[in-house]
Amino acid sequence: MALIEAQGLEKRYPGTDVKAVAGIGFQVERGEAFGFLGPNGAGKSSTMRMLACVSRPSGGTLRILDRDPVSHGRELRARLGVVPQDDALDLQLTVRENLIVYGLYFGLSLTHMRAKSAELLEFAQLAEKAGERVEHLSGGMRRRLTIARSLVNDPDILLLDEPTTGLDPQARHILWDRLFRLKSAGVTLILTTHYMDEAEQLCDRLVIMDKGLIADEGTPRELIERHVTREVLELRFPPGEQEAAGEKLGGDVEVLPDRLLCYADDGDAVLGRVTELGLHPLTALVRRATLEDVFLRLTGRSLTD
Ligand SMILES: Nc1ncnc2c1ncn2[C@@H]1O[C@H](COP(=O)(O)OP(=O)(O)OP(=O)(O)O)[C@@H](O)[C@H]1O
Ligand SMILES: [Mg+2]
Repeated sequence: MALIEAQGLEKRYPGTDVKAVAGIGFQVERGEAFGFLGPNGAGKSSTMRMLACVSRPSGGTLRILDRDPVSHGRELRARLGVVPQDDALDLQLTVRENLIVYGLYFGLSLTHMRAKSAELLEFAQLAEKAGERVEHLSGGMRRRLTIARSLVNDPDILLLDEPTTGLDPQARHILWDRLFRLKSAGVTLILTTHYMDEAEQLCDRLVIMDKGLIADEGTPRELIERHVTREVLELRFPPGEQEAAGEKLGGDVEVLPDRLLCYADDGDAVLGRVTELGLHPLTALVRRATLEDVFLRLTGRSLTD
């Protein structure tokens, strides 16, 4: 049986008639890393808050651990770990105090939390920062502390809303490594992101979300195979010459404001044709297709617009 099952799930906020989540269906299985990939405003956080049992669905059905999140919210929240989009840490408290206070709030004892916080700080690579006030921590450290905090109750399911947004590449990699360890330890991960590389690295399976709806679902590889070719040739032409070059080249071409994307199984072969046709791009790059290309194909827009 799936850990989470949603059908026709909707969220509409009071005073608005737009559906932030407009009827989505998905299932999350035990032990998998499941992702919601989508741009700003897609409805990712709205979905995550319903999964976290802190926001009531406006329509459809949602079952978490075979229970109704509205009638069994309290019981379910005790089994979930939540990393919200904004850290919401207490900046005036130390790193360790943040963990302990959160644990007490969860009804855990001080004795338990003293030992548990040491274990979690070790896991989050923050042991040396234990006595430091949170206001002095970097963004990456704060994010790791928020993850440590979400683990105080040894959750079955960890919900992570944009775990690495705004972090530099090194901080992101440290975080990915920690999430990978949790997954290896059997924790079910559900995360949102608008980074296609994060989705490809971390998610066994994902849904592509846009404007409150799911555009498609699958493993990163399945989605790429279903919607795009193996390779992409990216060409940049001088301003104003993009359209004409695209028409001349023909084939499976996407014309963007700043570049042309030519989808092909053999990008170098298309590059050969570019030269034969007498086209002179400023730059040419053959790369493998990514989830960003899938998103563009499905929605006609880029993930980071
Ligand atoms: N509390 C709220 N009240 C009213 N509207 C809201 C509320 N929260 C979100 N919305 C609206 O719902 C839509 C979806 O927002 P949501 O935060 O779920 O998207 P998101 O995918 O998480 O975006 P982001 O990547 O920017 O975090 C947006 O149009 C947003 O303005
Ligand atoms: Mg969000």
